[in-house]
Amino acid sequence: GKGGYDHYMLKEIHGQPTALSNTIEGRIDDGDVALDALSPGTFEDVETVQFVACGTSYHAAMYGAQLLRAADVRTDVLRASEYDSMAGPVDEDTLVVAVTQSGETADTLDALRTGADRGARTLAVTNVVGSTAAREADDAVYIRAGPEVGVAATKTYSSQAVTLALLTQRIAGDVPDATPHGDRAAMLETLADLPQQVETVLETTDAEALAEEFLDSQSYFFIGNGLGHSVALEGALKFKEITYEHAEGFASGQLKHGPLALVTEASPVIAVSTGSDDDKTRTNAIEAQSRGAPIVAVGPDDHPLVDVADAHLSVPETHPVWAGLLANVQLQLLSYHAAKLLDRPIDKPRNLAKSVTVE
Ligand code: F6R
Repeated sequence: GKGGYDHYMLKEIHGQPTALSNTIEGRIDDGDVALDALSPGTFEDVETVQFVACGTSYHAAMYGAQLLRAADVRTDVLRASEYDSMAGPVDEDTLVVAVTQSGETADTLDALRTGADRGARTLAVTNVVGSTAAREADDAVYIRAGPEVGVAATKTYSSQAVTLALLTQRIAGDVPDATPHGDRAAMLETLADLPQQVETVLETTDAEALAEEFLDSQSYFFIGNGLGHSVALEGALKFKEITYEHAEGFASGQLKHGPLALVTEASPVIAVSTGSDDDKTRTNAIEAQSRGAPIVAVGPDDHPLVDVADAHLSVPETHPVWAGLLANVQLQLLSYHAAKLLDRPIDKPRNLAKSVTVE
């Protein structure tokens, strides 16, 4: 059942501290990452990593891909439906990582099989033990989010992003010439605090009031830079999926290359900051603001973006690698409350299915 919540989506948003604790459990070992059967050395022949995924899982894959690139590993992230034509050279030193919470998405399975046919090694990152992706890939890593009923993916996104972050450090530890995250020990240590910090967001959020304040808007633009870009894309996808309002996500610096033409007082710009070096988000938010758009900063308090914003959804201080995931929880709540105020069928949006088993 819904455990006293009005919707499964809200129950699952609130299930994230527990889900994340399970995701992390036993996987950080003395400053290093221990991931199921993937013992140290298992990735030493890998030269290129190609993430393949759809929708929300694609956004989690973007998050992981960026961390792997930061570790100097050749990395691609491809929409699974485009893999066939976009994969580029693939050989036995390529690792194709299928990111799919259900493990049954037809496009993603197709990309996994195409990669295997072309000689790649394959890995599934999934929530479902015994799913097709888990069975067909050479190896599987489970995200341990627990069952998710709402069509809109929430806790599976958070658990995927964290699992992928751990996977990137495992891969970076093996690949010759890779450079694991500069302050990996600090990054892994702060991860242990993430479930509690999500709880803090859930207890202190102003998302409902903000959803109400901006309910009559025409469009909702989500921007972010670096890791914040994938969070902005995810925020916009969730928002359109359950509210049926027009929402788009952009890399902060891209706003002025076209979308700015749509910006008015009736199009709030929701700007994600990760607390790291994302000044592009602040400068481009100011551009939108000078065209009349209200700016909602989503991120840690002590960021210059907050000083210019019209409203702020706050997240606790943490390592920049995790701040985007806390911001995402605020965005989940913003979407949920907007959809609820609009009286949408939140757990079963029109035209969508939980698991898309057709190509
Ligand atoms: C959006 C959503 C979808 C899925 C996508 C892939 O909230 O849930 O975008 O993320 O259909 O599904 P999986 O992860 O099962 O491959």
